[in-house]
Amino acid sequence: MKMIVVSSFLITWIVFIIHSLADENPRFKRDWGDPLPDLGYPGYNCSPNVMAPSKNMPTNVHSIRPADIKLIMALGDSLTAANGAGATDAISVLLQYRGLAFLMGADKDILLKYNPKLFGQSYGICAADVWECAFLNIAQPGAKAVDMPGQATEIVRRMQDDHPEIDFNNDWKLLSIFIGGNDFCSYCRDPVGYSAANFAYKIQEAIEYIYDHVPRVIVQLVTMLHVEMEKKLDSTDNVTAPICQPLHEYGECKCLYSNWTVESMNQTVQAYQQAEMLLQDYFENKTKADNKTDFTFVIQPFINNAFNPAMNVDGTPDLRMFAPDCFHFSQLGHAGVATWLWKNMLEPVGSKTNAANLSSVAYPLGCPDPTCPFIRTTRNSQNCAQYLTPSELD
Ligand SMILES: *[C@@H]1O[C@H](CO)[C@@H](O)[C@H](O)[C@H]1NC(C)=O
Ligand SMILES: *[C@@H]1O[C@H](CO)[C@@H](O)[C@H](O)[C@H]1NC(C)=O
Ligand SMILES: *[C@@H]1O[C@H](CO)[C@@H](O)[C@H](O)[C@H]1NC(C)=O
Ligand SMILES: *[C@@H]1O[C@H](CO)[C@@H](O)[C@H](O)[C@H]1NC(C)=O
Ligand SMILES: *[C@@H]1O[C@H](CO)[C@@H](O)[C@H](O)[C@H]1NC(C)=O
Ligand SMILES: *[C@@H]1O[C@H](CO)[C@@H](O)[C@H](O)[C@H]1NC(C)=O
Repeated sequence: MKMIVVSSFLITWIVFIIHSLADENPRFKRDWGDPLPDLGYPGYNCSPNVMAPSKNMPTNVHSIRPADIKLIMALGDSLTAANGAGATDAISVLLQYRGLAFLMGADKDILLKYNPKLFGQSYGICAADVWECAFLNIAQPGAKAVDMPGQATEIVRRMQDDHPEIDFNNDWKLLSIFIGGNDFCSYCRDPVGYSAANFAYKIQEAIEYIYDHVPRVIVQLVTMLHVEMEKKLDSTDNVTAPICQPLHEYGECKCLYSNWTVESMNQTVQAYQQAEMLLQDYFENKTKADNKTDFTFVIQPFINNAFNPAMNVDGTPDLRMFAPDCFHFSQLGHAGVATWLWKNMLEPVGSKTNAANLSSVAYPLGCPDPTCPFIRTTRNSQNCAQYLTPSELD
């Protein structure tokens, strides 16, 4: 997740190894834009009624149909910038393939199929400040929770000051946040500074900024990834170990190779996740106290209990899901994770999937529930009837 900050000698060596292995090992052979295995779109037909936008622009955040969302945006680190997603070698992991990101990417048309009028999604390869490509994906490689308030400020500035074509007050927006890998990778050196409470507090601060400055927004947080799973990529496969272990140990995540046990890494991730989960209650209470009906905050927990990376049937890691550094997701990995996220968004709070199987995709792709065809929120999950409004086709 962090940019690889190691000596250029090490990078040269790693690239050399990866190039030589890439020729040998078909699992590494993958070019940007290669056709993806069918992830379900050809047969994807939800009832037109649940896919249509609302008849009248909703004013209540608990009545938002997926097609009512006009703007999407994301905060995060290199997993959201999609570092390496289209990479065929370790150097390209330095590139940010935002167009492929599971929270935001549009290169593969996944989100657009759901909602052709969307804006904000990313196209291509670029850094966060290249508007024509990144649009509203503000994620920065190396970012930690402590950077979230700054990213929140920047995204508001970008929408309000730089891009008056955005109807800031009236458009419904979806802001996704996914963060924590770099905090985890620093935790072993400073368990107090990187405590779960500090981690969640910084995310809370960012969300408070959105709460105070952005009208008509659904904020969703994808909980922390079990980063310790990456160790399995190093130890279970003789082919990847010589490449990925040094990359992890000397570059991307030194903590994976500290004196920290895997069990305590597991517990740390769970503590981060629990602190994140509490934010949902916090903002539920806050919106109630303020009688605010155009903001909601939802946790998407599909990754909470995903303890294993994608595996082949023979028990070796399925490298098609990962970039060549065995750390970031590949294009296929992003596409697979995106299916779990969509599933979560359409599941009611309280019964959301919390243990995605990263070896598979969430087939069949979910359709909004006809009895509550909205992006599910804390309140429409309790009682949807009071939020029901007609679609364009009703
Ligand atoms: C990996 O190495 C171990 C120990 O050297 C060996 O037993 C095993 O067969 C190897 N696996 C593969 C897939 O080559
Ligand atoms: C790990 O090593 C550090 C010093 O490098 C030490 O402060 C810490 O107590 C050790 N932790 C464990 C669990 O042994
Ligand atoms: C939310 O409000 C409930 C009921 O007043 C309270 O029990 C709970 O502790 C609050 N949660 C947070 C995170 O503030
Ligand atoms: C909350 O706001 C709604 C309209 O936005 C209003 O009808 C209602 O009376 C308010 N409730 C409280 C408790 O202020
Ligand atoms: C992590 O801990 C949970 C229990 O808290 C356990 O169910 C799970 O198997 C552990 N995962 C790994 C990979 O050890
Ligand atoms: C995860 O999915 C793979 C591929 O579909 C399947 O082989 C495996 O049994 C699944 N694992 C679990 C724990 O369900």
